[in-house]
Amino acid sequence: MKRRPSPTVNTKAALDDIIDIFSQPLRSQQELDEADESSTDDESDAASLTSRSFGDKSDVAETRLGEDLQDVPPPPSGKHEDVDEDDEVSVGNVSRPMMAGVDLPEDKEELPPVETQNVQPLQPQRGITPPQQFVMPEHERRFNVNCMTPIEERTETSIFQHSQDESSFLQSPLGDSLRFRRPPPQQEQPCTPLRQNRSIQNLGSSPFEEYIPKQRSLPTVKKPPIPAKRPTTTTSEKPPTGPIIREEQCNPQDYAIQNQIFDNLRPAIDTYEGFVSAETETFNKVPSIEKFIRTLSSKENGATTQISEMRIQLGETEYLIRKKLGQGAYAPVFLAECARTGQLRAIKVEKSPPRKWEFYLMRQAKRRLGVSRAATGMIHALGLHLFQDESYLILEYRDQGTLLGLVNFVKVSPIGGETTGVMDEVLAMFFTVELLRTVEGLHARGILHGDLKPDNCLLRLDEGDLTVPYCRYGSGGWSQKGIALIDFGRGIDMKLFPENVRFIADWKTDEQDCPEMREMRPWTHQVDYWGLAGIIHSMLFGKYISVRWEPMGTGKKRWFLREGLKRYWQGELWREILDVLMNPGLVMAEEVGLPVPLRLKECREKMETWLEENSERGMGLRTMIRRIESSRKP
Ligand SMILES: Nc1ncnc2c1ncn2[C@@H]1O[C@H](COP(=O)(O)OP(=O)(O)O)[C@@H](O)[C@H]1O
Ligand SMILES: [Mg+2]
Repeated sequence: MKRRPSPTVNTKAALDDIIDIFSQPLRSQQELDEADESSTDDESDAASLTSRSFGDKSDVAETRLGEDLQDVPPPPSGKHEDVDEDDEVSVGNVSRPMMAGVDLPEDKEELPPVETQNVQPLQPQRGITPPQQFVMPEHERRFNVNCMTPIEERTETSIFQHSQDESSFLQSPLGDSLRFRRPPPQQEQPCTPLRQNRSIQNLGSSPFEEYIPKQRSLPTVKKPPIPAKRPTTTTSEKPPTGPIIREEQCNPQDYAIQNQIFDNLRPAIDTYEGFVSAETETFNKVPSIEKFIRTLSSKENGATTQISEMRIQLGETEYLIRKKLGQGAYAPVFLAECARTGQLRAIKVEKSPPRKWEFYLMRQAKRRLGVSRAATGMIHALGLHLFQDESYLILEYRDQGTLLGLVNFVKVSPIGGETTGVMDEVLAMFFTVELLRTVEGLHARGILHGDLKPDNCLLRLDEGDLTVPYCRYGSGGWSQKGIALIDFGRGIDMKLFPENVRFIADWKTDEQDCPEMREMRPWTHQVDYWGLAGIIHSMLFGKYISVRWEPMGTGKKRWFLREGLKRYWQGELWREILDVLMNPGLVMAEEVGLPVPLRLKECREKMETWLEENSERGMGLRTMIRRIESSRKP
């Protein structure tokens, strides 16, 4: 496929460069080949993201994505021309050998009897069943082990507020205002990509003033012959590199910063496959979608109503709205069925204002992860329909609910050896390893998730039995099981910022946020490390993280969990990982500054080793995973 023609910026420097280039003697084929080879890294390194094309094969190479894209309308002609096959991202962490699978008989071990102390009848579920509410096995549905308060999803402004489908969860002591991470409602400035005739005065702080276009007409300069091997690569096409944002300290959620990024991003966001811009049109469908969703839930509750379906047309695809999956700050996430193919999609709607940031982040992350184990740890963003008033992010749908749902499920239906209402330690360690692998992969490629918490982790338990005991390399079905991250709306692309950038949060914070944020100090990777510590805490203790600190001298603090680890847990492993995640600045032995990938990897590998040696103990990890899978079957 051809590389997309590059946009033009007219500058004197650009003109001088071109004249220089064309005045150089022609290089031999061997020299050109060498130059090609040495440039490969640049091309695959997203540091040159402004020159990258998107939505290419790496976006579609895996699993079901080929099908997934079928309902994404084809881009207007020419869009595919963005894609340069040489732009493939290098394969991430898949270099480990695969172990031969061994077929073992399926473990049919039964659940231990449910502890009947303190049990109460379960409240019948009302409204739409959100995916995170597990379907209980029939024999357990009558009981509710009242050992711990369920924790509930914290959304942006609806933190702990009840939606109809979350009625069984308790209210949080935290207020609504805790996460106003979005910009105040305002009309989104339409993205204004650099145009061919854009004058230098209009460039503002664009770092791409020196960008030299391929097609610029220079009648006085004779064009050298283009080498046959790579007709699209000439020296004059050397992409602009470097960060778009020059500030070394900023609020990454700042709307002006995001606009600046979109204005200067090359290729522009509207060339990404699946991006459909109708920014001049008003869609205004959210009120009727919400009304329809309310009708659906009242129907589930026995009300008789005539309206049985609602369809929305997004680009060339017509969707039937099936149910609400979650509630964002201003609009819902709903399940939709493609009317033509029957494929299911999660659609995340945003309004006041509509947003394209999450789509950008997810595409970048997926692309940079390439075909890797880490890449399976996040959901695919298949498309974005951007209107003046609303945006519709089309996502791969997973129907097994969230880690938060599982944490709540085990309170009433013990899955492993634990009868205490919390997740079995072995299961918690398995999910921790899965999360670490994905987050390590994202960080290594310059992406911060920015909002790691149990309700942003979907269960990824794909079909296929686990035929061998736990295997870190993924064989025997293990690569099919894990987590898929969602909700990249608060994500950060470090490649857009200078290397030494640090961020400042200007939103209200709480104990779920890293200490740097809470103390208005600058941060980067701490946001995800603390998020991971919070997820581990929720798995081990069934509640949100609660911490204390001890002075370390020189004004530094060391953070600890308030809760004590159980004596029979792998205390050393948990203490080590939690210490790294909560005190990354104190544990940098070989690493200077953040991130601390080596320390994290070391901790993950110790856990993998422990799992390989112990996963079959007691009920066994495989049996626990099978039990979760069957609890999710209709
Ligand atoms: N791809 C998906 N598949 C299944 N459920 C999803 C998907 N995306 C989101 N959800 C559900 O919707 C909820 C809210 O989505 P999320 O992207 O986290 O929005 P918010 O930014 O409002 O937190 C999630 O917690 C999850 O329950
Ligand atoms: Mg969320």
